[in-house]
Amino acid sequence: MARQSSQAADHPPERETVLHSWCIQSEWNAPTVIGGEGARLFTADGRTILDMSSLAECSNLGHQHPRVIAAIRAQAEQLCFVTSAWGAGPRARLASLLLDEAGYPGGRVFFTLGGADANEHAVKFARAASGKPRGWVITRERSYHGASYAAMALSGDARTAAQVDPEAFRVRRVPPPYPYRGPFGTSSAAECAAAAVRRIEEAIGELGAREVAAVMMEPNAGTNGVVAPDEFWPALRAATRASSIPLIADEVMSAFGRCGEWFAWQRHGAESRPDVMTLAKGLTGAHLPLGAVVLSAELARALEPQMLMTGLTYCGHPLACAAGVAAIESYREEALIERSRRLGAELFKELQRMQDRHAVIGEVRGGHGLFAVVELVSGRLTREPLAP
Ligand SMILES: Cc1ncc(COP(=O)(O)O)c(C=O)c1O
Repeated sequence: MARQSSQAADHPPERETVLHSWCIQSEWNAPTVIGGEGARLFTADGRTILDMSSLAECSNLGHQHPRVIAAIRAQAEQLCFVTSAWGAGPRARLASLLLDEAGYPGGRVFFTLGGADANEHAVKFARAASGKPRGWVITRERSYHGASYAAMALSGDARTAAQVDPEAFRVRRVPPPYPYRGPFGTSSAAECAAAAVRRIEEAIGELGAREVAAVMMEPNAGTNGVVAPDEFWPALRAATRASSIPLIADEVMSAFGRCGEWFAWQRHGAESRPDVMTLAKGLTGAHLPLGAVVLSAELARALEPQMLMTGLTYCGHPLACAAGVAAIESYREEALIERSRRLGAELFKELQRMQDRHAVIGEVRGGHGLFAVVELVSGRLTREPLAP
């Protein structure tokens, strides 16, 4: 049944009625997807597509995971919705699973609708907890934190840069730890990592530590293709701890096995745990929209007596939280995080072999889990990007 087209001729084609994201409207001409199973999608015109990117790097469990579908169905029959002014069983269960898995005893979870609003709320909470309601946030050039206005201000993304003035949102950007393009003129990955952290310390010094409310970074590459050298995250953690500035890890894309761990920072050990972690995408395996901000006990304590003037109608939606619980149980019981690590190592070796064969591949990086970056260049020596 899932493979039968539900397209009736009683409405105009989607191209004529819907605005689509991240594309030129007049060029949109994508097939209609009517079903999915595992890594495959089925289109209305009868084709089967192998989904190499898990859609927007979000369907970490594959399409139509039976356990998640069953949990959504059961919750829908019991109670579809109650606002977060009231309690909801799956919300409490999901928060506790996340705090356990990430090792945040005494912490708290705030549920959002997706990644961008998780990042906006992470900044709000870091500012509220540190008593700096308009404190500066330090982020990276070549970063992506979402496409709402404040999230665009946080992002160092050339595609949306013209739409927003980061300084108006009290965001200061620093160059990324990107050895292949050497923004610091260093000669090794370790030196590049150290220079990137020094630049963050300098930015804290320029703004004044008392004016900085948070540093927000992705622990592993997202759409920007930066995979920081191994030395970067632990050094960043040490530097932010030394200046008592909360570190926010944007794990929206990198969590739930994508980088071979539950959360990408875990590769660097418990000492490297951020104060705040933002999640979305794999949190429900994208079966329903859901994001989360996970806060350490220390920040949670600072927020405890405060009135939180924030929240969106659908924050902590019970249906989405039920999908989240089933997703976490599936990652655990099917050992999917370990599977991603194992298959990721094989994928990485294969990509390196491809690099030997194709001069257009300048560098292959990542490979911690089923997530790797292949940087395409027009010449290996000049490292000139293939696309501007
Ligand atoms: C690292 C990162 N942060 C935030 C976001 C934004 O998430 P959403 O699209 O759910 O708002 C994304 C989306 O791709 C992302 O990759």
